[in-house]
Amino acid sequence: MGIFSLLLLLPLVSGLDFRYHHTKELEAFLKDVHKKHPDITHLYSIGKSVQGRDLWVLALGRSPTQHKTGIPEFKYVGNMHGNVAVGRELLLHLIDFLVTSDQHDPVITKLINHTRIHIMPSMNPDGFEASILLHCFSMTGRYNANKKDLNRNFPDSFTTNNEIIQPETKAVMNWIDTGMFVLSANLHGGAVVASYPFDNGNYVTINGKGISKTLDDDVFVHLASTYANNHRTMHKGIACDNGVYFKDGITNGYHWYKVNGSMQDYNYIWGQCFDITLELSCCPYPSEDSIQSFWDDNKIALIEYIKQIHLGVKGRVLNKKKEPIANVIVEVQGRRHICPYKTNKNGEYYLLLLPGVYILNATLPGFMSLQQEVVLPNGVEKFSAYEYDFIFSQEPTSTKPISCPLKPLYSNSDSKFTITVLSINFLIFVYVVR
Ligand SMILES: *[C@@H]1O[C@H](CO)[C@@H](O)[C@H](O)[C@H]1NC(C)=O
Ligand SMILES: *[C@@H]1O[C@H](CO)[C@@H](O)[C@H](O)[C@H]1NC(C)=O
Ligand SMILES: *[C@@H]1O[C@H](CO)[C@@H](O)[C@H](O)[C@H]1NC(C)=O
Repeated sequence: MGIFSLLLLLPLVSGLDFRYHHTKELEAFLKDVHKKHPDITHLYSIGKSVQGRDLWVLALGRSPTQHKTGIPEFKYVGNMHGNVAVGRELLLHLIDFLVTSDQHDPVITKLINHTRIHIMPSMNPDGFEASILLHCFSMTGRYNANKKDLNRNFPDSFTTNNEIIQPETKAVMNWIDTGMFVLSANLHGGAVVASYPFDNGNYVTINGKGISKTLDDDVFVHLASTYANNHRTMHKGIACDNGVYFKDGITNGYHWYKVNGSMQDYNYIWGQCFDITLELSCCPYPSEDSIQSFWDDNKIALIEYIKQIHLGVKGRVLNKKKEPIANVIVEVQGRRHICPYKTNKNGEYYLLLLPGVYILNATLPGFMSLQQEVVLPNGVEKFSAYEYDFIFSQEPTSTKPISCPLKPLYSNSDSKFTITVLSINFLIFVYVVR
């Protein structure tokens, strides 16, 4: 015991220590990282929590302050439920690992060369400050300071969400709505599993097995499996005390249990960003001496998951003067998103797809479409998706930005038939995790 108290007085020799970092320490750590690595980091706040705490994001890349054409943008969001502290600490360790491995580890150097990575260790700093260490089954601190569950607070594409949008949610929505993100994950706890969209669903999306599928289901299963298989134990299917077992450590969100207004569905529908939910520990706020082993469990998976941003195809849509055209719908035949995915102001598009043959379709709304067949290799190990640019020889003088209303889009799709939705949510008690 005496030795331990003595150790606590010693200054931090190197690296980040394995303990919980409260708001002030978290801010100090992020500022210090930025100060030591100004060339590859950019620290910014996307807004404030109800109690006025900053929602910090550290961006890493060769061009950390701004987007570069051809470089996809990735994000990790932690601590959305304030009592879930493991992800928050893992993201701090991930930051530490990335900045200290740059120019030393060739894989991390390439990752930083070819990707801009945004890391938000805490989306709910007020909830974290209200949480209690080792209260593994309590909801204290889960919610924000207005007692709202942030993972039920987003607009929903299946049902009207009447919850008042919270400042933390609004800040994240604005951040997602920039449309810049291609891939992301949000870190949770209370189970050990990688869960993928949809979290909600209706007769349009739910199949006979009670899975609410996106048209990109193959990609989502691959993404969730990549995390689970690179995690030390997740792929084994860990049942926590609540007893739910997940085959291969992955699950469709809805199949597990239905969630209204989740962040992952919002990313996919309105943000043109593929997002999954990572449940990383049975106890959301476990003892400090377990943090190191959680880091060891997750380190490779966290990196391998970011690399998946280089799946599929990317490119630009240009006019014959080689100028970029924004707001061009670029999608794959058979995978039309309910809110069309469109080019950004640099004319860029990014589509996550598994290797294979696809027909791309670029549409100037109300004017014309171009189709192109592409054979996609696996770009992950090359740190670049396959590149294909569309060139329109004609274009209208103006293109209207396409907007997608924040309302239940799927309930408006016409129903020629309805199937009886086989709900698996007949469990008498569903322990609320994500
Ligand atoms: C990373 O990019 C730098 C230029 O910014 C280049 O000199 C270096 O060779 C690249 N490293 C790798 C491993 O790709
Ligand atoms: C989701 O929202 C619908 C419609 O508002 C409501 O009937 C349902 O109970 C909600 N489901 C959950 C799991 O909260
Ligand atoms: C291309 O996409 C547009 C817009 O989504 C759609 O109207 C059109 O039918 C598509 N064309 C093909 C050949 O898939």
